[in-house]
Amino acid sequence: MQEFDKKIISVISQDPEEILIHLNEFKELMLYYKSAIREVRTKLEVLNDDISIKNQRNPIQFVKSRLKKPSSIAQKLRRRGLEISTQSIRENLTDVAGIRVVCSFVDDIYDIAEMLELQDDIKIIEVKDYIKNPKPNGYSSLHLIVEIPIYLSQKKECIKLELQIRTIAMDFWASLEHQMKYKKTMKEAPEIIKELKKCADKIYQIDEHMLKIRKKIEKLDISEDN
Ligand code: GTP
Ligand code: MG
Repeated sequence: MQEFDKKIISVISQDPEEILIHLNEFKELMLYYKSAIREVRTKLEVLNDDISIKNQRNPIQFVKSRLKKPSSIAQKLRRRGLEISTQSIRENLTDVAGIRVVCSFVDDIYDIAEMLELQDDIKIIEVKDYIKNPKPNGYSSLHLIVEIPIYLSQKKECIKLELQIRTIAMDFWASLEHQMKYKKTMKEAPEIIKELKKCADKIYQIDEHMLKIRKKIEKLDISEDN
């Protein structure tokens, strides 16, 4: 029997009431993730506004967020040989809710990460620093897995989400590389991978250079004020 047919039979032979309960549980869990995204987006807006007043520039250029699609959630669990259930999603996946924070300069990335870490209700579960240690292909970003509480009508839930913090230059590279990754020709051409790595190296240098320029300007401003 085909895998698909087996699945259909297992679904329709289940008690319809049970299916509805599972469906409701899943919808509720997705609401938790959506709420967690809202909470963190607000925190980021507040930080950006506060720093903008103090430093007269925006550390955050823009923020994007997404909820993983149910089909991608199921695919990821299946790929890892894990059970497909709401409990398994909560226990095993940390990127159902994802937020990408695109900053102006490299030091803004670490400042924002530190400011979030200092907040009482945010727990940093994991840090992957692909800026200090870029991936072999050149991918660079700071990844944090954080946990935050969300307050519902009758309970509090602690929800994990993935934050990717990067500069606008790193985002430019990652966005184009992501688009091209899906082309067959790229996977088969090691010289293209090398060229992309070279671009990533140049972007790293440009980010460093831009930061130096900003710091020079800040010094000039200080001496003018005195
Ligand atoms: P996943 O199974 O993909 O979640 O891997 P992981 O748990 O090891 O997470 P990792 O921190 O390596 O990367 C997770 C996310 O970072 C991906 O879903 C992408 O959004 C981004 N990312 C990681 N590597 C690359 C890359 O080489 N290129 C691009 N464009 N994005 C990447
Ligand atoms: Mg991940």
